[in-house]
Amino acid sequence: MTDKINKLLEQINQLSATNIEELEALRIRFLSKKGEITRLFTEFRELSPEEKREVGKKLNELKDKVQEKINELKISFESSSSEESDMDLTRTSYPVPLGTRHPLSIVKNEICDIFARLGFSIAEGPEVEDDWHVFSSLNFPEDHPARDMQDTFFIQTNPDILLRTHTSSVQTRVMEKTEPPIRIICPGRVYRNEAISYRSLCCFHQVEALYIDKDVSFTDLKQALLFFAKELFGADTKIRLRPSFFPFTEPSAEMDISCNLCGGKGCPFCKYTGWVEILGCGMVDPNVLESCGIDSRIYSGYALGMGIERVTNLRYQVKDIRMFYENDLRFLKQFESAY
Ligand code: DAH
Repeated sequence: MTDKINKLLEQINQLSATNIEELEALRIRFLSKKGEITRLFTEFRELSPEEKREVGKKLNELKDKVQEKINELKISFESSSSEESDMDLTRTSYPVPLGTRHPLSIVKNEICDIFARLGFSIAEGPEVEDDWHVFSSLNFPEDHPARDMQDTFFIQTNPDILLRTHTSSVQTRVMEKTEPPIRIICPGRVYRNEAISYRSLCCFHQVEALYIDKDVSFTDLKQALLFFAKELFGADTKIRLRPSFFPFTEPSAEMDISCNLCGGKGCPFCKYTGWVEILGCGMVDPNVLESCGIDSRIYSGYALGMGIERVTNLRYQVKDIRMFYENDLRFLKQFESAY
């Protein structure tokens, strides 16, 4: 019997199984009710007490070894079988084709980034606004044409509530709550009741900038404008300020940049003037400061606002602003940017 046990002990190391069926066959061969080891235990019962003492130890050792081997095979078989399955968790994923940023987002981010370098931080406000924030606080007289139903989308049930027509409303929201110094840039969607054409839409985007502090002068505004124009349109860009009117600034100006298509020589794009208009600006009217609770004897400031569609048109020479909203991938994929 000892010989039989020794022989089996030698065989154990060579046992192998490649799938669950083979493994089960091994278990049946050795450990089932009719298996070889069970049979040895039956034989063991017939032995004399001295023989039992010697063989018993070996027989238990054999049983343990077989059990151990089967467990070992089971583990290796399980881990190798999971490698063979369809799922390979180590594999890199399929490349997901990346979209491109929308040209309006690219330009908006670029504008915000330029002003961030001058210390401005982003502020946002609601698109559904009240009359106070869009008009009254910004020094619009009661009968100003911009309040006319033709320009503004009012909420039918409450004429005090409207869709903001410009991001200047964010100026008021921030000034009401913040002690100067204030340096904010406010990008956002605005709405006007315009007929849709290649140059106007009823929903478009603006960016507003506002700087309020002690001793802010027109010179500061001009310097910021020049920096901005050169950063966005290139170092050769020149700027020109023309006197203008906005209720919320005094004095007010419109800024032109040298035409970035012809470099200022004159072309159909700039109507042979060499200049294209890009934004409105001015020194914040003292009435606006006062209506927001800021003492205009201590503080002054400048503000500027521009249409993002317009700037994007100039930047990329897009002729029809409706293209920005048509979701045509052939158009949208042309705009690559770091932003
Ligand atoms: N809010 C003006 C508009 O929508 C743009 C504008 C002009 C903003 C002059 C300003 C500014 O801050 O100073 O046409």
